[in-house]
Amino acid sequence: MALAKSTHLEILRLLKQNQGAFVSGVVLAEKVSISRPAVWKHIKRLKALGYEVQSHPRLGYMLVEVPDSLEREEIFPNLTTSWLARSYHYLPTTGSTNDHGLVLAAGGAPHGSLVVAEEQTKGRGRLKRQWLSSAGRGIYLSILLRDLLPIRVAPQSSFVGSLALVKMLRKEFDIPASIKWPNDVLINGRKVAGILTETQSDQDFSRFIVLGMGINVNHTKEELSGPFRYPATSIAIETGYAVKRQEVLLRFLEGFERDYERFIKNGLAALLPEIEQYTTMIGKTVTVVFGEREITGKACGVSDEGALLLLGEEGSRESVWAGDVVRIEGGF
Ligand code: BTN
Repeated sequence: MALAKSTHLEILRLLKQNQGAFVSGVVLAEKVSISRPAVWKHIKRLKALGYEVQSHPRLGYMLVEVPDSLEREEIFPNLTTSWLARSYHYLPTTGSTNDHGLVLAAGGAPHGSLVVAEEQTKGRGRLKRQWLSSAGRGIYLSILLRDLLPIRVAPQSSFVGSLALVKMLRKEFDIPASIKWPNDVLINGRKVAGILTETQSDQDFSRFIVLGMGINVNHTKEELSGPFRYPATSIAIETGYAVKRQEVLLRFLEGFERDYERFIKNGLAALLPEIEQYTTMIGKTVTVVFGEREITGKACGVSDEGALLLLGEEGSRESVWAGDVVRIEGGF
């Protein structure tokens, strides 16, 4: 007998309503209009998905523990956004969520579509670097944005991602997260998240943006001790306890939606005071590498188009549009 696709979700809903208490097999069978042996088959399926369900010959079934999975059925009941992630694409494993997002975009997927994976086999970062994407540890996501933006403005959307994450980490976890211009989020000088935006443009306007973000959530120190370009950390390392990825994802999406709406309505200028507040390199001497060039100067702000404003030793002023900050006075 083939199992109906949504019946296990209906059973899950009934078990969740009674979490911590037994629900008899007879009641479950009646409520979803299937036989008792069929109920058992659906329970086995839930167990295979990571739900801990206790079975008792007389009392029935009790939901003991829900896995920290990013599947739609775990996220949707608690998702409060209005347009973001309403089209939700969950992948147990994929090459890169950005690649998947680009395919969805080409196929006409709606604004705000979200791709989220448990694992990436070809997760990529800026400058063709690799992004560590071990299964179940982090959050690997891509958001499809379809506002028509001038091509100079489109990359500014990555600030929305870093700002929303920094504010969420500070508010929900009380950790001193900061923005490392232009695309990284650091905690205590170590990288916890990175952003890779990819756009497709006509002559003057971006047709869509795929904003990809990788967040280290429950990675251990050992996992992050590899030969990375910058020292890395995870939320769990900083808090000292394992963190629910579901919570991180939900709170991030809510904050991102709010800040993205502010960005679209009033431009990056609306977010600048907060961006500067959380960009800890402001006021310090930094070295930025871009292409073949390296430039050192005092970071004195971020322009309302997202450039890093540097003041050279002789008083020269320079706006840096993209690059890698490789040194910060006093360390990252
Ligand atoms: C960087 O710091 O260089 C950016 C890292 C971006 C990684 C994320 S993980 C989800 C999305 N899919 C990818 O292949 N990359 C981005």
